[in-house]
Amino acid sequence: MSQSSIIIEKHDEVVCLKLNRPEALNALNNQMMGEVKEALEDFERDDVVKVIILTGNDKAFAAGADIKEIADKKHFELYDRDFIQERWEMAARCKKPIIAAVSGYALGGGCELAMMCDYIIAADNAKFGQPELTIGVIPGAGGTQRLTRFVGKSKAMDMILTGRMMNADEAERCGLVSRIVPTADLLTEAINDAQKIAKLSQASVKLAKECVNEAYESTLDAGVRFERRVFHSLFGTRDQKEGMSAFIEKRPAEFKD
Ligand code: CAA
Repeated sequence: MSQSSIIIEKHDEVVCLKLNRPEALNALNNQMMGEVKEALEDFERDDVVKVIILTGNDKAFAAGADIKEIADKKHFELYDRDFIQERWEMAARCKKPIIAAVSGYALGGGCELAMMCDYIIAADNAKFGQPELTIGVIPGAGGTQRLTRFVGKSKAMDMILTGRMMNADEAERCGLVSRIVPTADLLTEAINDAQKIAKLSQASVKLAKECVNEAYESTLDAGVRFERRVFHSLFGTRDQKEGMSAFIEKRPAEFKD
């Protein structure tokens, strides 16, 4: 196998997974997505890791699926191999929180991969887009569904049908990204967020994530009932007792999970 196309950096309980094919603007090929999947599975099993950051380089988070790799593929081959489902969807299945730190291009599968994460912090040079129609296909890693849920039908249609890019300001205005930071500070900001999350009770973190995601899967009534059950269940944890006692005793909480 050729050289690894990801870089993993550990900062105590926070792990940073960097997409690393700068010569191809981090185009997401089979090898890279296999490595991303394996790394995410390892992080899920690793008790030390609490929060994951997925990022690229200043010029590109990822410019989409590797067009050169898939250009000649046949219909049955993609279907039979479960292309996308098999390697990419792990990012959407993780129980641990994943922050996408996006700088430069997040196009096609790159935008879709960022949207599989729990939230996106954008550098001021970030550019988002779903240009698949300009190369004769459609978004294939959830773009038609997630972008529509995140930014609404009109903006999603505009982006997908015209293939245009939106800059960081527009992405923040329409709710695609949580906030914009200077490019040079992107990783520091993402690590700060991740370290804050890592200090919390991981039971609440994972369950809060599940509850927010439930908002996309169910009716308001069913989602609120789901949230209520999870809220009740947290009163069976030591972290709830510790968190509330610490507040009352005016001291920092020490969560142990
Ligand atoms: N796949 C393969 N290679 C890619 C790539 C991609 N998605 N995006 C960029 N590259 C390669 C280029 O071919 C080029 O390689 P060479 O130097 O060997 O020619 C290198 O990266 C640099 O790219 P450019 O010279 O094009 O750089 P630029 O600054 O002029 O343009 C860009 C940047 C506008 C992002 C342009 O590269 C581009 O349009 N890329 C393709 C974007 C795209 O269509 N993405 C969707 C892919 S399909 C998909 O993702 C399906 C899905 O839903 C899962």
